[in-house]
Amino acid sequence: MKAEEIKRIAVVGAGNMGHQISLACALAGIETSCSDVSEVQLQKAKSFMQSYLPGKVAKGKLTEEAARAAAARLRFTADLDEAAAGADFVIEAATEKLDLKKEIFRRLDRICPPHAVLATNSSFLVSSLVAGETSRPALVCNMHFFNPALVMKCVEVVKGPHTAPETAALAMDLARRLGKVPVLLHKEVYGFLVNRILARITEEALFLLETGVASAEDIDSAVENALGHPMGPLRLMDLTGIDLNYDIAMERYRETGDPAEKPSPTVVEKYARGEWGRKTGRGFYTYPETK
Ligand code: CAA
Repeated sequence: MKAEEIKRIAVVGAGNMGHQISLACALAGIETSCSDVSEVQLQKAKSFMQSYLPGKVAKGKLTEEAARAAAARLRFTADLDEAAAGADFVIEAATEKLDLKKEIFRRLDRICPPHAVLATNSSFLVSSLVAGETSRPALVCNMHFFNPALVMKCVEVVKGPHTAPETAALAMDLARRLGKVPVLLHKEVYGFLVNRILARITEEALFLLETGVASAEDIDSAVENALGHPMGPLRLMDLTGIDLNYDIAMERYRETGDPAEKPSPTVVEKYARGEWGRKTGRGFYTYPETK
């Protein structure tokens, strides 16, 4: 199958990543179903779409007709079976819990047509952890978007030992069809490319904050104005979620037993206080607009 022949996409999960990945697919002209077990999450995703599309029209970046067509192509549903039946390509963007992902891949394998590619948007779980749950490991790969998925151009496509070269090539071409600039990882490695690099920068930023060398504002300002990053690492953690940083570090620590993998004391403290970043109204910074 070629990327232009993909007619239907199912995105599993309407959370932080899924709601924007599904809208990116619909904007690229593909019939898309976005499913989630949480009605609240689905409603949030729908509300986002209903404000995002008119916003783009108002800015002159999208015609009214294109916005209407994209909205008509995107369906939100609590029914995974209904969303995945008939899909040519699935992007799983559910919570980063391995058992849950295994269950989803088993179910997708039963529901989806035999030709469908099953990709996971996981930022750290390699697809060989779930490929064995399916009868089609050659059609399983990682396809990792960045937050906010409608804006960030990079998509990491990771080829596992089970992934057919054609599957990786199709995921790369689909990313291009969505207007992204994909990169290919020829083998699985923890953290892929971007999060390995980002983790080192974030670790150093937390060290400098915790040892009182500089404020969060000045650490971010330095990275933004000296290195040209659009956002410093602490502001970025507020965007992606301090809870996500905590969960990933804990999972890694449990897996390796290496104390160096534990979340930093600041992250542990903020996690326990429910200061998870933008989504809770407070993280390294405060966000009065978040209820
Ligand atoms: N969702 C969708 N679109 C958004 C957005 C959001 N949350 N925030 C901003 N945008 C869009 C705006 O609509 C605007 O689009 P137009 O140009 O079409 O008008 C554009 O982005 C610029 O927005 P703003 O002018 O309001 O704000 P900005 O210039 O400060 O940009 C930003 C905001 C795009 C988030 C920018 O700060 C940025 O690129 N930050 C870095 C993000 C980053 O590094 N992401 C990678 C995270 S790591 C990760 O994702 C790991 C993982 O595994 C999950």
